[in-house]
Amino acid sequence: MTTTVRGPAIEVAGLRKSYRSKAGEQIVLDGVDLVVPAGTVTALLGPNGAGKTTAVGVMSTLLAADAGTVRVAGHDVAREPEAVRASIGVTGQITAVDELLNATENLRLMADLNHLGRAEGRRRITELLERFGLADAARKPVATFSGGMKRKLDLAMTLVGAPSVVFLDEPTTGLDPRSRRVLWDEVRTLVAAGTTILLTTQYLEEADQLADSVAVLNEGRIVAEGTPAELKAAHDTGSLDDVFLALTEPPTETETENGPATTKENVR
Ligand SMILES: Nc1ncnc2c1ncn2[C@@H]1O[C@H](COP(=O)(O)OP(=O)(O)OP(=O)(O)O)[C@@H](O)[C@H]1O
Ligand SMILES: [Mg+2]
Repeated sequence: MTTTVRGPAIEVAGLRKSYRSKAGEQIVLDGVDLVVPAGTVTALLGPNGAGKTTAVGVMSTLLAADAGTVRVAGHDVAREPEAVRASIGVTGQITAVDELLNATENLRLMADLNHLGRAEGRRRITELLERFGLADAARKPVATFSGGMKRKLDLAMTLVGAPSVVFLDEPTTGLDPRSRRVLWDEVRTLVAAGTTILLTTQYLEEADQLADSVAVLNEGRIVAEGTPAELKAAHDTGSLDDVFLALTEPPTETETENGPATTKENVR
């Protein structure tokens, strides 16, 4: 069921989140504020390890915040997680497809979880398989799918319940250029129909193409926010890559020692 969202679809204020381990406490989100108006696309950018997935985790009720308020689709994530869950779709950075099932079975699982009736579920599954170019592979075990096919199925699964707010964590990583454009078109179609989208990406052209607003997360805070055009103008450049490089720091030596805090791709 799609809920009508009035006012901002996502409102984050003073969000703080740290992880505790034997090594101590790591503050990942240190007072994040973010507002995403309903029916728009916001791209959350930031270096590897900046906390994008953590923020998406809190906004999608998978992780509890340490402090701050987060409202999604008009509901507080801490006090009304069920209502939030009923309004959202989440595509994680790692696919959630079940390799032992085929594509149709994976989608049916989502249709059942969303309480779609048999006929409605079947209609929706057929539509999504077509939209994502998976109709011919519908009955093949997902274990035999390529990485890109799994990603597309994952996205289709996110959309089964027609969510009003969709979180896409690096949705096009590993997709070929044509498939990436299919996803972009899909995002545009969803937004035209009133869906709100928060996406993370390391492909800054993607943010430039899709996002009404870009927010850059660095060292626990949103360090810049605006339309792609505004951010580029502010940095006197035609490329969001330049904006990203200017606003974010290269990994420090300690981060490098602790793991792969390097960028995933050469942005230059
Ligand atoms: N469950 C966890 N326990 C401990 N530390 C964690 C956990 N999840 C994430 N972290 C740490 O929190 C920081 C932020 O991680 P997160 O996955 O949110 O970053 P990200 O911006 O999504 O990065 P990427 O671009 O690589 O996907 C990293 O330093 C990471 O090591
Ligand atoms: Mg991430």
